[in-house]
Amino acid sequence: MANVYAKRPVVIVKGKADLLWDQNGKEYIDCTGSYGSCVVGYCHPRVVEAIKNQSEKLTSCHVSMYNDSRSELLQRIIRIAPKNLEKVFLSNSGAEAVECALKLARKYTGKKEIVAMMGAYHGKTFGSLSATWDRKYRDPFLPLLPGIRHVPYGNMERLRENINFETAAVIAEPIQGESGVKVPPEGFLKQLRELCDEKEILLILDEIQTGFGRTGMLFAFQHWDVVPDITCLAKGVAGGIPIGLTLSRNEIMSSLKVGEHSTTYGGNPLACAAATASIEVLEEENLLEKARLQGDYFTSRLNQLKDKHKVTREVRGLGLMIGVETRFEVLDIILGSIERGVLILDAGRNVLRFLPPLVITREHIDRTIQVLDEIIGEKESGRLPNKPPEKNA
Ligand SMILES: Cc1ncc(COP(=O)(O)O)c(C=O)c1O
Repeated sequence: MANVYAKRPVVIVKGKADLLWDQNGKEYIDCTGSYGSCVVGYCHPRVVEAIKNQSEKLTSCHVSMYNDSRSELLQRIIRIAPKNLEKVFLSNSGAEAVECALKLARKYTGKKEIVAMMGAYHGKTFGSLSATWDRKYRDPFLPLLPGIRHVPYGNMERLRENINFETAAVIAEPIQGESGVKVPPEGFLKQLRELCDEKEILLILDEIQTGFGRTGMLFAFQHWDVVPDITCLAKGVAGGIPIGLTLSRNEIMSSLKVGEHSTTYGGNPLACAAATASIEVLEEENLLEKARLQGDYFTSRLNQLKDKHKVTREVRGLGLMIGVETRFEVLDIILGSIERGVLILDAGRNVLRFLPPLVITREHIDRTIQVLDEIIGEKESGRLPNKPPEKNA
């Protein structure tokens, strides 16, 4: 396999709810959620059953033909999404959902420029990479799409300065994930919506990491009572099966004419069946409320750690999307946690990131805290050596 991922020394062979097992049978509490793509828990029986049933019926059906599994998913999505996000393009990943959003913005407005945020992560295909901020991802592939300007996240003045007659849209994450779990300043999304309305440009909110219940609402923008013109979902929507969704108003989506955008696997019946089952699980098991309650509990326990250990600087996030900024690089904490049976993500060099399945139990949160307490204690007393930083995935 291409050597482009920062590998962790573990071979995962099985999962259930918020737990994973390696090939030797060792159990891990999973706070990574497979980079946030496991929302309803690993191998949820409802999702497994839906995949099994669909796989016996039909696993492939191009969107040029109608399909019952796809149609059921589309109806569900439209029922749960805010009412002016009524048209959907189905694809297979987050980056693809963003590609569609960028093409839509250009096509609908007839304009070419996009304003994105410093610190943003929107994916690594050429279009989405052009909206992504980090130079280490961008520089090897220049030139990227022209006409994309990056402004400081949350800075309304700089945003206003960078909007002109050629601006089609502003794209932002409601909470920045990859760059360190950064919650915007209070009022930012509301002001951003107002600015886009005033300038008559589109607002694209990328909910690929924050969406599908992760922050305690179906879409994170609902915390701030804002509705974008276009939004992107992916990660957890189909219980870990690849899927991407771009949602917009009818008139915006209708600006794309037949053949102007497509993907062979988009709307795949298997992925659609898994997504419908995941939506049912989200609703029936009250996972949004669980994300809020367990998120509050996890955050309060992490804050206790912060008060105890000076090396932890800040705990931030919403629901079960949580970051802990430390005063040192976190790689050895992550590796130490793996040895002790807990899987954690990073988000930049000095931020630990927690994106567990929303079904994580209090007992497993407590165990995670205990492991972190031990490792950070060892780190503070100098017993844990500093390892060199690795490339981010
Ligand atoms: C906010 C955001 N947008 C886009 C993407 C890209 O998604 P994918 O890796 O499925 O292409 C990610 C992935 O982490 C993300 O967090």
